[in-house]
Formats: sequence, C-alpha cells, structure tokens
Amino acid sequence: MKDRKIIGYGYYIPKNLITNQDLEKIVDTNDEWIKSRSGIETRYVSSDENTSDIAYNAAIKAIEDANISKEDIDLIICATCTPDNMTPSTACLVQEKLGLNDCHVTAFDLNAACSGFLYSMQVAALMLSEYKCALVIGAETLSKVIDWTDRSTCVLFGDGAGAVIMKREQTDNQMYFYSNAEGDSQGKLKIRGLSLKQPLQNEAREVGCIEMAGNDVFRFAVRAMSDALKEALKKADKTIDQIDLVIPHQANYRIIKHVIKKLKIDENKVYINLDKYGNTSAASVAIAIAEAKEKGLIKEGAKVVLIGFGAGFTYASGYIEI
Ligand code: ACO
Repeated sequence: MKDRKIIGYGYYIPKNLITNQDLEKIVDTNDEWIKSRSGIETRYVSSDENTSDIAYNAAIKAIEDANISKEDIDLIICATCTPDNMTPSTACLVQEKLGLNDCHVTAFDLNAACSGFLYSMQVAALMLSEYKCALVIGAETLSKVIDWTDRSTCVLFGDGAGAVIMKREQTDNQMYFYSNAEGDSQGKLKIRGLSLKQPLQNEAREVGCIEMAGNDVFRFAVRAMSDALKEALKKADKTIDQIDLVIPHQANYRIIKHVIKKLKIDENKVYINLDKYGNTSAASVAIAIAEAKEKGLIKEGAKVVLIGFGAGFTYASGYIEI
C-alpha cells in the first residue's frame, strides 16, 4: 500500500514501578525465575490513571512529534482489552480529552488483545482512503485484570500506552499489513466478560482476571510470530536481511529468541524492551516503535517489521518503510 505514512510517535508509561523483588513479597516467586523464564525485570502499573488517561498522554506526545494541529485528526482507533468502560469507547474518551468534541472524528476501540495495535494500524491504513489523518493508539491498564495471587500470570504484565499518527500523503514508501485469527483457542488465554444473569435477580458480578495456559500460548506464539513475519516479508517482497529493525510483541524473551533462531534473524536488529515494561498487550508494539524512534534507531527510509500475537488467538504483522 502506498501513500500512507507514519508522521508521529509517542508513548507513556505510568509512574508506579514494580520490581521482581516486589512480587517476591506477594507470591511464591523469585527474581531468578522471572528473569530466566521471561526476561522481565520490572513493569509499571497505574493506580490513578485509567486506560483513556494514559492513551491521551501517549496521543499528545504523538501529535507533538507529528507537528500537526490536533484538529487535523479525523479518525481515532484505540486498541485495548482493558477499556475504562464497556461503552463509551476509550477512543471517544480520548477525543473528549483532546478537546475534539466539535470536530468531525470517527472514534472507536478495537479489541484483538496483544495484536490489537497492528490490527488497528491495518484498519487505519485502509480507512485512510477516505479519512486524512488517523490517531492510532495501543493502551492498557492490565493491572485491573491481574490476579495478584496467581504467580503464573501476575509476574508477566504491565500497563502503558503508545500511539502513532498515520496520514494519507504522497510517498513512494510502502506499507503492508497481515492479520489472522484462530478463534477456537479461547480456553488458552482469556479475560472473562460479563456473564449472563437470571432476570430480575440482584446477583453479585464477578470481575474477570487473566487466565492463561502458558505453555500452549508459548507454542502458539512461536509459530504465529514466525508465520506473521514471513507473511509481511512476502507481501513486501523482501528478505529478512533487507529489514533494518524487527519489533516483536514484548511478551517473553524466550519466545522472541525461538523466532530469531527459527528465521535466522540477526539478534542485533530485534528491538526488546520487555525487561523494563513486561507485557503491555496492545500497547507493547506501540510503545516499542515509539521508543525505538526516540532512541534514533529508526531513520528516514528504514524498513521496519512489526509482529504481534495475542488472545483469540490473533496474530498480525506490518512491514513499514518509514
Ligand atoms: N515463579 C516461580 N515459579 C513459577 C512461577 C513464578 N512466577 N510461575 C510458574 N511457576 C512454576 C510452575 O508452577 C511450574 O512448577 P511445577 O513444575 O512444580 O509445576 C514451573 O514453574 C514451570 O512452569 P511452566 O508454566 O512450565 O513454565 P514455563 O517455562 O512454560 O514459563 C511462562 C511460563 C513464562 C508463562 C511461559 O509459558 C510463557 O511465557 N508463555 C507465554 C505467555 C504469553 O506470552 N502470554 C501473553 C499472551 S498475550 C495476551 O494476549 C495477553
């Protein structure tokens, strides 16, 4: 796809740092186990900012980086599986926080779990044939759905948000997306929604937490990330050696290592920040691309591949010439 460009990047991490040592105090775990099994050392969680707040903070940074007026935005997509509300959408709340109530803006959330940001970029790229300027956000407050007594999940996740501004603009740079889903896998990874209740009965509402069969997710993730990466390269007619930077979903360093080995990727070209932030689901790739840009690792003309996988199962990839 031509005539689509990312013109701004931003990310925002909430303030509360939680170390592996902090987790040792609440569940039967230890720093060595968490680091060796996942690569994660710290994560940040929010106590006073909901998903729309951190999404807004990332959005503001992306808008500033793009050097546009916020009124230029006519499409807001927020990828999240931890929205503030069932409805209104987080994207609508961000629209309000940006002061764009009186502007013509299409705003909605997209839930494809950890693949959500890539799904959203794909949807935005397609919608940009009609719209001019899209704000695409990945934002999560997963701490709301973590069972802090479950050591097999609570050590893995964190909160955060990332955002990009995508614009329709004449360019020779190419952009391709691939997405897929395997909807028969919901028993392996889920956050339960509201359950059916008996009519007219005032029953208690239980809150859903992350439930995960870690080993099954691990095996799926290696296969899905490899397949998604190959699909992105195929669409772009490129080989892995021609790629400057690979940005995978930041779930587990061992998953990424398996993919690196399987596809013979130069490890120096793979961006990793999961040691600092843990798995931030739909925010993960969004934060990583914005942080890599900030560090000067993505120059004009760079060829970047993004890869995601998540609950559903879903998986997705993007090939982007910056
Ligand atoms: N600390 C210490 N021991 C632990 C912990 C912990 N935090 N968690 C589990 N263990 C124990 C288990 O109980 C088990 O003990 P046992 O052998 O006595 O039964 C042992 O460690 C090994 O457990 P495994 O689950 O086999 O460990 P594994 O090496 O597979 O690592 C992990 C587990 C890290 C969860 C891994 O399977 C993984 O990363 N899976 C993918 C998860 C993922 O990416 N999820 C995100 C999906 S994205 C989304 O949409 C939200």
